[in-house]
Amino acid sequence: MNQQTSRRAVVRTPHGPESIEIVDVPVPEPGQGQVLVKVAAAAINPVDLEVTGGGLHRLGLVTQPEHTGLGADFSGVVEAIGDDVDLAVGTRVAGFVGGFDRDHGSHAEQVVVDAADVAVLPDGMCPNVAASLPLTVTTAAQLLEVLGAVPAEGRRLLVTGAAGGVGAAVAALAAARGWAVTGLARAGDEAFVRGLGVDFTAAPQGRWDVVADTAAMQDEAVSLVRDGGRFVGVKPGLEPDAERGIAVDVVVSRPDGPLLAGLLDRVADGTLPARIHAALPLAEVVGAYQLLAKGGVRGRVVVLP
Ligand SMILES: NC(=O)c1ccc[n+]([C@@H]2O[C@H](COP(=O)([O-])OP(=O)(O)OC[C@H]3O[C@@H](n4cnc5c(N)ncnc54)[C@H](OP(=O)(O)O)[C@@H]3O)[C@@H](O)[C@H]2O)c1
Repeated sequence: MNQQTSRRAVVRTPHGPESIEIVDVPVPEPGQGQVLVKVAAAAINPVDLEVTGGGLHRLGLVTQPEHTGLGADFSGVVEAIGDDVDLAVGTRVAGFVGGFDRDHGSHAEQVVVDAADVAVLPDGMCPNVAASLPLTVTTAAQLLEVLGAVPAEGRRLLVTGAAGGVGAAVAALAAARGWAVTGLARAGDEAFVRGLGVDFTAAPQGRWDVVADTAAMQDEAVSLVRDGGRFVGVKPGLEPDAERGIAVDVVVSRPDGPLLAGLLDRVADGTLPARIHAALPLAEVVGAYQLLAKGGVRGRVVVLP
């Protein structure tokens, strides 16, 4: 890598994965409380595909004048620190870049983030595995925070999309908290979902106290909540209408280093799952996005700068 510039994947006029370009930008500098991370691996999430598709631009939610940076999740090594940062250069970390209306992202050789947003990797954790986790597991834990102090014991929770990144983590974390969890997923995902220690359905019948709708089934998922129960979605701004006294909430994930550190420990001790579908070099980022866009992927697609 050249010392003065850093490669980054961006879209200017988004029209699908083919519109992704790799551009050279000046190496970003960490400000106060920030770290420069040399990215080792960076997962592609559904929101990255949405950004490349242009839907969020059309809604006015992405307004970058020049280009929009891609990628949230990353693992890597601290390369430089700003003032008031305790982390040492060389520390292996993981995290995610919050939001999506930004000119930079983690699908890049380097990224600057707040030191408070990163977690130190557990000893021996593979960088690809670490890169596959931050956004999904943090969202899952924060979705359960939305449910707050609801007594978990015996309460019935349906998790739609339980074979996905967020859903699998919600199911595993909720089961550990004492929820009676059913995972809704495709028939072919039964073994994986049951392996999380929860019940499985591909054709839900009846109603649950709470539905965590990580498959974004929206109204269909609301219909699976009992009267007076609770729905928690994953699509801010697109919350389905409340009906039958059902409380409707949505999770909006935000980076949280200490929370992530605890979740990475759970992956390291085997109580939270991690799945990688493929790892491709950053130079093949278009193909990596196309792979995800094709569908049917189980586990994250990871790019390697
Ligand atoms: N609000 C936030 O802050 C936030 C943060 C992170 C993610 N999200 C959103 O959360 C959602 C999940 O993200 P993710 O990373 O977990 O995605 P993912 O890994 O692709 O998981 C989604 C899962 O849902 C399954 N699914 C979809 N429709 C289904 C159906 N009708 N029946 C059974 N299973 C179904 C998918 O299976 P197939 O692949 O077979 O369709 C997939 O296994 C995305 O919409 C993402 O944008 C929101």
